[in-house]
Amino acid sequence: MCGIVGYVGNGNTRDMLIDSLSMLEYRGYDSAGLALACPDDMKVIKTTEMISKLKEIVPSSIYACAGIGHTRWATHGKPSDANAHPHQDCTHRIAVAHNGIIENYQELKERLIQNGHLFVSETDTEVIAHLIEEYYKGDTLTAILETVRQLAGSFALLIVNEDEPDKLFAVKKDSPLVLGIGEGQYFVASDATAFAKYTKKVLYLKDGDAAVITKAGVYVCDFNGIRVVRPIQTLEWNTEESGVCGYAHYMLKEIHEQPKSLNDAMIARIDALKGTIDLSELNLTTDQIARFRRVIVVACGTSYHAGLLGKYAIERLTDLPVSVEIGSEFRYASRLLTQDTLIIAISQSGETADTIAAVKDAVQKGIHVIAITNVFGSTITREASSTIYMHAGPEIGVAATKTFTSQVMVLYMLALYLSKQRDGLSPQDLKQMIVSLKSVPQKVQQVLEQESYINEMSRLFASSGSFFFIGRNMNYPVALEGSLKIKEIAYVFSEGFAAGELKHGPIALITTQVPVVAIATRSPTYDKTISNIKEIMARDAMVVAIASESDNSIDQLTKLVIKVPDACEFTSPILSSVVLQLLSYYTALYRGCPIDKPRNLAKSVTVE
Ligand code: AGP
Repeated sequence: MCGIVGYVGNGNTRDMLIDSLSMLEYRGYDSAGLALACPDDMKVIKTTEMISKLKEIVPSSIYACAGIGHTRWATHGKPSDANAHPHQDCTHRIAVAHNGIIENYQELKERLIQNGHLFVSETDTEVIAHLIEEYYKGDTLTAILETVRQLAGSFALLIVNEDEPDKLFAVKKDSPLVLGIGEGQYFVASDATAFAKYTKKVLYLKDGDAAVITKAGVYVCDFNGIRVVRPIQTLEWNTEESGVCGYAHYMLKEIHEQPKSLNDAMIARIDALKGTIDLSELNLTTDQIARFRRVIVVACGTSYHAGLLGKYAIERLTDLPVSVEIGSEFRYASRLLTQDTLIIAISQSGETADTIAAVKDAVQKGIHVIAITNVFGSTITREASSTIYMHAGPEIGVAATKTFTSQVMVLYMLALYLSKQRDGLSPQDLKQMIVSLKSVPQKVQQVLEQESYINEMSRLFASSGSFFFIGRNMNYPVALEGSLKIKEIAYVFSEGFAAGELKHGPIALITTQVPVVAIATRSPTYDKTISNIKEIMARDAMVVAIASESDNSIDQLTKLVIKVPDACEFTSPILSSVVLQLLSYYTALYRGCPIDKPRNLAKSVTVE
């Protein structure tokens, strides 16, 4: 869960690396470092502060043709200068930046120590630098290939050697790595966001690839040194989408982008006038779709919550039973997976290790896996049988916001598509649902217009030590997601419950000190949720209700009401989620939390 970046070219290597690395800070920000390959002199400079510190401590006078950078989310050893990357060999000629985990590093380390190597860090990565040193006889690539054949685990590596200062070496296995091809310059990074403003031409390395990059070009081979050719593709992102654009935080910007991102998810897929839906990118025939007997959704964190909403939608609109499973649990569950199962794997980053493990396992068993992701060319897209892109644009804030609502939108479209292909929905019902989906961006805009009111509401509760979120049915995943959001960015203890479960235990925790956020928009379970609110209020606890605009009676119950536009049962959870995103954002702001970079978290969880 780190970000790595490499540069070789005619530009100022120091500046290019710091600039690109700062775009990857969302992947981890415990510490950072650069290695600049100068002839006969490798300069390695590290900090345990933010990446911006590198601007102060790396002299602007350093000339290097190639260099590497790293921003870290600590896994082996605390954040410290010694543990920060890049790591070096004993001779200090070689420097390595690594994203991933070397599972057999202990045994390699013991062997290297016996051979006389001196280790200075607690990291798994340092063994790589020493192994390359061990095998280096004047040809860096040969030494790297010998090294990587001995590594177990996941690794995206960037390597420079002062003996070949005009070369940048890259290796990929089970961690993301993408090459950016510019005019007279090349980038390699964990994520194309790092260099998207310099070039849109990209080359995705595959697992088992090693590359040697110079100003003159790229040479890619497998771990046995056999040349392979990878296609050059073009990124679809707008670079303007990558900046903070005047907002105080990426998270706030991304919350505000939702009318657009939701609309973009629907473009070219649904037509409200004709009442049609097209997901031909699935490459599934009507016969194949008719043969599915059940669906399993696999995802982690926020994507799991989107999956729960997908379950309600697919089960309502089709005859398919759906189970939703957490990636890290699914991969170790022993169950019979039959070929009439459809797996839907959801991951905004497309790099979540647990979700990807599930995808690989299922595809190997001949099961069709649909990936839902936001990142073009990400690992999940290469492993899954077919992919639906969310087209939400880059999401930099660690807390998922616009990608969550886009995931839900994509799942609803998928539910409609499956239903249509299985003759589960009349053309009239399909058209009505499509019209409903099409109205969502405008309704989200109306929610955003209440920002200052939601801000005020957040101020009232900003000092609370804990929160509860409750909802029933399709509002239950909304409660879970609201709870996760406030935990991760405002550092408040919180729990999300199915409202009906309260009296089976959690109600014992209800006190006047614990605000309860109840998602009580109009739905078939509305009355039951109102009963739950009354039970809570009977215990003098404060209830903030998220309610439908036309619901006047709820104002008699609690003064703390946030209204969302009237909407159908499917689309109303999207609107309520936007309210909860703003509530979490302002709560975090009042609590002085580092909103875009919450402690201990990273945007992309590429390790188990
Ligand atoms: C969301 O706010 C969290 N940062 C986290 O739960 C995230 O949703 C989870 O790690 C899954 O990520 P993915 O969608 O990239 O797979």
